Amino acid sequence: MRTRSILITGASRGLGAALAHAYAAAGVDLILTARSEEALASVCSDCRSSGAKVSCIPLDLTSEASIDEALAEIKLIGLPDLLIANAGVYSGRQANGMLEPRAEQNQQLSVNLLGTIQFLDQCAQGMKDRGSGHLVLISSLAAIQPQPDSPAYSASKAGLAFWGRSMAEDLADHGVQISIVYPGHIESQQTEMQVGALPGLMPAPRAAEIIRQGIDKKRARIIFPRHLYWLILVSNLLPGWLRRRVNRPFRYHVARDDRPE
Ligand SMILES: NC(=O)c1ccc[n+]([C@@H]2O[C@H](COP(=O)([O-])OP(=O)(O)OC[C@H]3O[C@@H](n4cnc5c(N)ncnc54)[C@H](OP(=O)(O)O)[C@@H]3O)[C@@H](O)[C@H]2O)c1
Repeated sequence: MRTRSILITGASRGLGAALAHAYAAAGVDLILTARSEEALASVCSDCRSSGAKVSCIPLDLTSEASIDEALAEIKLIGLPDLLIANAGVYSGRQANGMLEPRAEQNQQLSVNLLGTIQFLDQCAQGMKDRGSGHLVLISSLAAIQPQPDSPAYSASKAGLAFWGRSMAEDLADHGVQISIVYPGHIESQQTEMQVGALPGLMPAPRAAEIIRQGIDKKRARIIFPRHLYWLILVSNLLPGWLRRRVNRPFRYHVARDDRPE
């Protein structure tokens, strides 16, 4: 049986780690990236125990040098068949009612959008030259229902989804597929920071399984949980004043450990 090679960014914890565990098996070459070397090494070791061959590559998406170094290593290993761009950071309104500080807005745009695009650009070109590949972008339901308490995050995820949709038009003619994933709330460090209602919250392994099934079916869009998606579509038909009233119980703030609240 042919070995399948899969690259996952942001694999040190949360959804990325759950995806790595979901794919780890004999006959699979995993390439896992993140900044936290110890946490990443631990996920890599678990995946090796499940029979996968694993390469760990340090990657900081805010650093051009780090992106170039990671891409050079990936070139040596060989471009993956499947690349899941999962790494992302999250922030939003503070407990005092102000939006997050500018540094956090910049960080979200830098990791979720600019760094991710820069990393994906070269991989997409390589796949296009090869004539095969599958890119999966982890966006968010926030790209469909913009979050008034996380405007920078919503913009970063909508930007990533639009980048993917733009690229898909060209890549499809060269044997390269793009899937865009729009998840709702998943149990992780990201949702631990969110103080407020978390409708439809699901464990990361369950989310990873839904994504895996969508990837297997080569879906262009993977959106979940479905009931929340339908509620969003219906709420968007309401007049603005009523939609804001309906959405009021879902407003939140974000309590980050690295910020004085
Ligand atoms: N949790 C949710 O409810 C939810 C909902 C919708 C979409 N998402 C998206 O799903 C993805 C995974 O989120 P999660 O909930 O698993 O969050 P998480 O637990 O905070 O994990 C984020 C991952 O991204 C990596 N990362 C952070 N900054 C990075 C940087 N500068 N360069 C490279 N990697 C970096 C982290 O690793 P290091 O810190 O080790 O670098 C970590 O592995 C994100 O794109 C997120 O926006 C999450």
